[in-house]
Amino acid sequence: MPGPRTPLADSPHCLIVDDEPALRQLLVHLMCDVGFSCIEAGDGEEALAALARHEVTLVLSDLRMPKLDGLGLLAEIHRRSPDTAVVLITGVADVKIAVSALASGAMDYITKPFHVEEVRVRVEQAMERRRLILENRGYHERLREKVALQARRLEELFLASVQSLADALEVKDPYTRGHSERVSHYCGVLAREMGLSSELLRRIELGGHVHDIGKIGVREDVLNKPAKLTKEEYQHIMTHPMVGWKILAPLLADTPEALNIVRSHHERFDGRGIAMTSDRPYRLRLSMEEAIAEIVRCSGAQYDPAVVEAMMRAVDAGRLGLVKRAGVMEAA
Ligand SMILES: [Fe+2]
Repeated sequence: MPGPRTPLADSPHCLIVDDEPALRQLLVHLMCDVGFSCIEAGDGEEALAALARHEVTLVLSDLRMPKLDGLGLLAEIHRRSPDTAVVLITGVADVKIAVSALASGAMDYITKPFHVEEVRVRVEQAMERRRLILENRGYHERLREKVALQARRLEELFLASVQSLADALEVKDPYTRGHSERVSHYCGVLAREMGLSSELLRRIELGGHVHDIGKIGVREDVLNKPAKLTKEEYQHIMTHPMVGWKILAPLLADTPEALNIVRSHHERFDGRGIAMTSDRPYRLRLSMEEAIAEIVRCSGAQYDPAVVEAMMRAVDAGRLGLVKRAGVMEAA
């Protein structure tokens, strides 16, 4: 197999494939004249061997050849290095095939007999087309990067506004200070324990972070009442999941899992209505160990057993940020 005819390091490589040596030589001279480094091949198989050794910008190939013909070669080039421009050289009788080859990715075709000047012009056009295709792809890639960057920025701004909502709630309801962040943290630990995808985990953490936002709509005297709630007060406070859902629905349209957490975070696993709320100022605080025992006791009724199991694994492995002190579980 002859090597490149013009050993210029920076000139693009042109592979000339034709089973007629005289025609091949003519094309080699012509392409060297216009600044290519030329490689020759006598058929499609030789061409593929040459392509494996050289980085080729342009392939000028005969259509009818022994072994692998021009169409077979075109398909293979398209598969292996789609950025290589292929121009087919065809007999007049093969024009229909050549036109269909354009649909399969050929840049152009030249009919035999051809004029030298015609080959020059067609090759120039094919190279210009290739350049535009590559440039266009570059624009698309840069645009994609820019869109991804802006999406990240938007998400940061969005999270900042969610954070300020959560802050506003904590000002109004000091009893739950740090509560949203702890819930978000525990949600993340359990989601990871259950092997959920990182995207779903992120959405669940977000849901945990904003789950109580609706308490912004709860009267402060009810929110902070240091005594047992009346039935009316209880009903009022339990509007907060729906209020939160209404506040966040337009903001969290792309993360329905987070919205579901906000709307359903007091619902029982067994579908029997609302679960007991424990974050009341008058209620005596359970120790961490008592709280865990209560969750295990209510597994299958108030709580999803799969999540309770994940929680126990996380507790046993020390991944929930809890430590045992003198036999009692505490937040670390
Ligand atoms: Fe709540």
